[in-house]
Order: sequence, then structure tokens, then C-alpha cells
Amino acid sequence: MSLIENTYKDLSKRAIKVLKKNWQGSFSIPCKGLYPFQWNWDSGFIAIGFAHFDMDKAKKEISTLLDAQWGNGFIPHIVFHNESDTYFPGPDYHQTYLHPKASKKYKSTGMTQPPVTGFVLQELYKIGKDKEDILLFIEKVIDNVYENHNYFYENRDPYNEGLVYIYHNWESGTDNSPMWDGIFKTMDSPEYNFERRDTAHVDAAQRPSKREYDHYLYILEIAKEHNYDDKKIAELSPFLVQDPLFNSILIKSNQSLIELYDLIGNNQEKINQLKKWQEKSIRSFNKKLFDKELEAYIHYDLRNNKPINYISSSSFSPLFANIPSPERAQILVNTLNKKFGGKDKYLCASFDPTNNLFNPKKYWRGPVWININWMLYYGLKNYGFNQLALRVKKDSIELVEKVGFYEYFDPRKEFYKENSKGYGGNNFSWTAALVINLLNEN
Ligand code: GLC
Repeated sequence: MSLIENTYKDLSKRAIKVLKKNWQGSFSIPCKGLYPFQWNWDSGFIAIGFAHFDMDKAKKEISTLLDAQWGNGFIPHIVFHNESDTYFPGPDYHQTYLHPKASKKYKSTGMTQPPVTGFVLQELYKIGKDKEDILLFIEKVIDNVYENHNYFYENRDPYNEGLVYIYHNWESGTDNSPMWDGIFKTMDSPEYNFERRDTAHVDAAQRPSKREYDHYLYILEIAKEHNYDDKKIAELSPFLVQDPLFNSILIKSNQSLIELYDLIGNNQEKINQLKKWQEKSIRSFNKKLFDKELEAYIHYDLRNNKPINYISSSSFSPLFANIPSPERAQILVNTLNKKFGGKDKYLCASFDPTNNLFNPKKYWRGPVWININWMLYYGLKNYGFNQLALRVKKDSIELVEKVGFYEYFDPRKEFYKENSKGYGGNNFSWTAALVINLLNEN
């Protein structure tokens, strides 16, 4: 066996260990201490990792998440399976019982996260050896995922554009991105008195500021005041954004549902509905969220009715969902190369390194995240950019190999001449899960 094969085998073994350690019996935590509950999109990525060596756990991860689904199809961003007080705002803060359709079984947040479950089911089908067994599982849960998409189109698309909004930065998954700075400036949030827990686990320089937390809480207080009613939120939330990453993931998952329903058979009505959503979503996405001057996809601030003119790693997520034409994909890749792709950097920084708001250490303001790289890798392959895809894969593996299964990484190569640590939590589940997938993929 070659040295490279040996190293990869060892990395894969270590990744499996991380996932086994974070497994809680029916779901996984993203990492110990910092994130002690079940997170929505984390679970999806984690299930992909488990699928390579323990399909039962992969299935359980997803069915536990879906068990917390609300009566209206909504799936929360955190499911509180225990009363841990190492996280703020924890189980008692959110009061989701205020919403008439909320789960009676679980405490949760009243926000959601990018809807990965549809494409995750398809990944499980691709990875699984026993296709019949996995198809039986998919048959059991697929309608829940469909209901979730239905929830989005019915409640989160007030102008019937095929583009759904998020009402909180925590719904985006890219929590602390500079994208939201301008919106927070429009808000007159009170100064809350609360005890943060994240900075007890992680250096404050890598986390959001106290003032930013005030804004995060203020949006939630408004939602709570109106019992998490979607219409009221659409009307009153100071934060209302059409996010390209969120919508790309919804579109990718729509496509997976179409293909999976097709495999199962007898679901023509749902397929027709999904195709209608899909057609409208892709059309609007290309029309509204592509900025011809920046030559990239952007976020749209629906509350203040204006585009947010920044480029981030979310700008490239449409490749993953086959949204751009081949010509536009080429333009997008040129932008990626020009702004993010310098030889002194690992791909892919989470925010435009040429912008002065770029910060290589701070949460979503610059560092590399492995889940984003994973989507970028498959997105580039979709369009035949195989060399660049390979670079994304190699960069991801090299970073993890060098410093461990961290939550995020410094994109500057020179940083590692003197440092051998990543940022945020260590032994982080989706980093481990997606490395397993990348190592098993060719
Ligand atoms: C952070 C990330 C979010 C993730 C969560 C748990 O809040 O921004 O995307 O789901 O941690 O890992």
C-alpha cells in the first residue's frame, strides 16, 4: 500500500471514531460542549458519513430529526433532546409551544436551517449497498420531506416568486456572515442581559460579538411575541432575506425528491408539483439573484428591498443544484478563481478575501468550512470543472490532515507555518462525515 493510501486509511479511521463518539443513541451532536443538541443540516451531513459504514445510524439520524417535525411541515434548526445548559439560547428560551402546530414531543427552536434532507436521502441511496432496504426507508420518510418543501413554498414565499426567505441569520447556516451587517444596522435592538456560553468553549476572537447577539435575540423576541406566526414574521421581522445557499439547497433537494419519487413509483401528483416549484424557482433564482457586475450570485434583502452586493462561498452554491447555464457557470468559476483561488489560499474562504470585511479567523467571515467545500466539490464536478473540484477536495483533506477535525479553518496557507490548529469546536461531526465521503469518492 502506498504512503498516501495509508494516510487516507488512517484519516478515515479517525473520522469514524469522531462520529462514533458524537453519536448519542438516536442522533448526533455536532461536537461536545459547544453544540450539545441535534442540529438540522448537521444531521443531514452526518448521515452521509454514517452511510459509508453504519447505515442503521444514518437512517436513525434522519428519522429522529423528522420525528421533531411540526404539524405544518416545518423542521426546526435545533432539537433539544436534553436539558444541557452549556448552550445559549437553550431549551427554555424559545417557547415554541406558542405555535399551535409545534411538536408536542420535543422542545426545539422556532427557526429552521437549509433543507438538506431531500438530497441526503438520495446520497444514502447512492452510497447504500442494499438498495432495496434503503428504498424502503426512503418510502417511509419521503412524504415528510415533501411536506417540509410544501411548508416553504406556502409560507416563506410571500410574492410567489419561487424563492423562499429566511427570517433569522441562524436559519442561513452561515450565522455570522458580513452579509447581515447592513441589516443589523437598520435594527434598533435593545441591549439584553444574558450569559453567553459559546465563549466559554471557544476563543471570543473566533465568535460573534455581544452586540451581534443582541440583534439575534431581538429578531427571536419579535417572532415569539407573534407566536412564530409565519404571516406576522413576514410582515414584521426586520430580517427577511432570500439566501442563495438556502434556496440552492432547496432546489437541489427538490430534484432529489423528483428522482426518488420516480424510483418509488405511483407519485405522479407530487412529482408534478415538485417540477412546477422547480421550474419557477430556477427561473427566478437566475433572474433575481445573479449580479452581472459582480459576476456572482448574491443575497437579496427582502425587508429593505435591495440586493446585498457581496460575494461569499454561498455565491457558488447554485453549481451544486445545477442552477446556472454552462456559460454562467464559467463566469462564476472565473470569479471564484480570481477572488478566492490565489495559490496562497486554501479553497474556499467563506467570504470574499478581497473585501475589507474579510476576517480569516472569525466564524463565517472568512474561514473555510468543510460542508461548503463538499457542496462546491460536487457542484464543480456537475459542470465538468474537474481540476478545480480536485483542488477543493485536496485542500479539504489537507487541512483536516494537518490540524484535525475542526469546525472551521484559516484559509491562509502561511498561517500554518506557525500554527497547527483549526478554529471553533474540535472533533466536529460534519467535518468527519464529509471527509469520509470525499475519501470514498473518486
Ligand atoms: C453553527 C453554524 C451552523 C451549524 C451549527 C452547529 O451555529 O453556523 O451552521 O449548524 O453551528 O454545528
